[in-house]
Amino acid sequence: MQLDVFTLFPDAFAWFRDQRHVANALAGGSTFETVDYRATTPLSGGQVDDTPFGGGAGMVLRVDVVEAALRARYGIDPVELRARRRVVALTPAGRLLDDALVDELAAEPALTLLCGRYEGFDERIVEHFASDAVSIGRYVLAGGELAAMVLADAVLRKLPGALGHAESAQEESFSAALERMPEYPHYTRPAEWRGWAVPDVLLSGHHARVREWRLEQSRRRAAAQD
Ligand code: ADE
Repeated sequence: MQLDVFTLFPDAFAWFRDQRHVANALAGGSTFETVDYRATTPLSGGQVDDTPFGGGAGMVLRVDVVEAALRARYGIDPVELRARRRVVALTPAGRLLDDALVDELAAEPALTLLCGRYEGFDERIVEHFASDAVSIGRYVLAGGELAAMVLADAVLRKLPGALGHAESAQEESFSAALERMPEYPHYTRPAEWRGWAVPDVLLSGHHARVREWRLEQSRRRAAAQD
């Protein structure tokens, strides 16, 4: 996968890039690049944002600045770009990110993430340049960088070879294999600690009963979340 992140803070992604599953995905042929909106801004003094029409607090990322950055990177009109690759604007007003959307995005050959800043985007960016508007939760972050890292983390770990074992991401919380339910509890050694014993069934070596017990635990957790 070719993953590009447009941001005012490219340095914020240095730590993320070093994470093992990200490094594994990159070693497997994926790319992860940051693009600084400021590098191509058509405005003087590195300006990228402006005050909102109609008044109000904060600053809004300008549509002409984002257009210039997208054109410089891809060499085409961003309105056409979004028909060719998924362009995701990260915004608290977007579609809530869940495992099904992560699967959908992980199947794409290329993704572009647009981080907003301050009060967010001029709405024309979301309306005309983005194919998707995605939120990572019903709360507001100071910018889209952490949201972009959350999305990129969840997507990249789904790629073949990103995790140590091919099966690691198969049967996990909210996966189709677990009927979109939370994952069951895990235990490891010691089998007993301070009188807290690991459930007997897990030590029984009886695979069918283990499977049944795990599904039941997932169902209970799903019911508790509703
Ligand atoms: N930018 C600011 N808050 C956000 C959120 N909750 N999700 C995605 N992008 C954001």
